[in-house]
Amino acid sequence: MSTTSRGPAPTVASREDAPGLVVPAGVVPPPTDRWTSRHLLGLGTLSPGEIRAVLRRARELAPLSASLGPRDDNPDTPWALARREGQRLAGRVVANLFFEDSTRTRTSFTVAARRLGAEVVDLFVIASSVSKGETLIDTAKNVEATGVDALVVRARQAGAAALLADHVRCSVVNAGDGGHEHPTQGLLDAYTIAEAHGRLDAFDLAGLRVAIVGDIVASRVARSNIAGLTRLGAEVVCVGPPALAPRSLEVLGCRVSHDLDEVLPTVDAVMMLRIQFERHGTPAVAPLPGAAPKRSAAIASVREYRTFYGLSEERAERMKPSAVVIHPGPINRGIELDHAVADGPRSVVLRQVRHGVAVRMAALSMCVLASA
Ligand code: CP
Repeated sequence: MSTTSRGPAPTVASREDAPGLVVPAGVVPPPTDRWTSRHLLGLGTLSPGEIRAVLRRARELAPLSASLGPRDDNPDTPWALARREGQRLAGRVVANLFFEDSTRTRTSFTVAARRLGAEVVDLFVIASSVSKGETLIDTAKNVEATGVDALVVRARQAGAAALLADHVRCSVVNAGDGGHEHPTQGLLDAYTIAEAHGRLDAFDLAGLRVAIVGDIVASRVARSNIAGLTRLGAEVVCVGPPALAPRSLEVLGCRVSHDLDEVLPTVDAVMMLRIQFERHGTPAVAPLPGAAPKRSAAIASVREYRTFYGLSEERAERMKPSAVVIHPGPINRGIELDHAVADGPRSVVLRQVRHGVAVRMAALSMCVLASA
């Protein structure tokens, strides 16, 4: 796999292994089914074989994504697996460098690293020297100098993880970089869809249709999902108002529609995305201290958006019986997703979170051990 955006100035080239997908020529990875990289920076630069390699490893680790229950010393139990995997990164240190807020990603990377026997350090930006003007690169190099083996990086800037990967020797795992990519989210979403449709054997999603609904332009989750799901064979259709789901997204290998009611009955999974109000300019007044205001120039009003693009209980009833509802979180209940749907029988939202631990265990161990 190609590790970073090193190489010649990017030009546009088609991928033989992902028809219709367009990626910069300078980052086209060699076709391989083996994981050889010490970094995970995005799914757009991975081959289908590399994506399946991580998902297969996550499948092996899946029993460790839940509480292990009462202690059991017998072999062939999750406890035995936990003891084996708990040695894999023993003596290693994983540092969480989160320059943006997170609940799910930070927590599950922490649990994942600890399940593998690694120590975890957390950099809280508010209490770090970033607040005194230290750069992202200097921060990463200084944290690495303490003996860290992997940096898990979330930052506001697209390309931040790739930039740091060019300046440190340890592994870098992208935990979300601006509106660019969130690769472990894309992997855990693919895993969840594969599980819901009985595709865990080969992670072949051919014949499945997935709708991604909402604020696609601002969404790193959408970008990683379009890259990951299309490489695994699924058809992806992005749905939203023109300002949030412009036709130009089709260059990524997906279809675009502005009509949720037309698309919804045809899909096997629907991913609802919140409107990322915080990335749509700075309104004058926030409704609650610390909360992002619910206003955006991209939509006429939240009420109108909900009318056309919210997944209400009534709309959800028009989905295929086997279709599932996913959401990367955080959910803005009552806007893109009603309570009854978020907590209803189609919702696999908490399965997504659960699979995040196995996927992140797989990603961390494969990257760190690739650089060993
Ligand atoms: N899905 C996701 O990235 O959630 P957090 O922002 O809570 O990590």
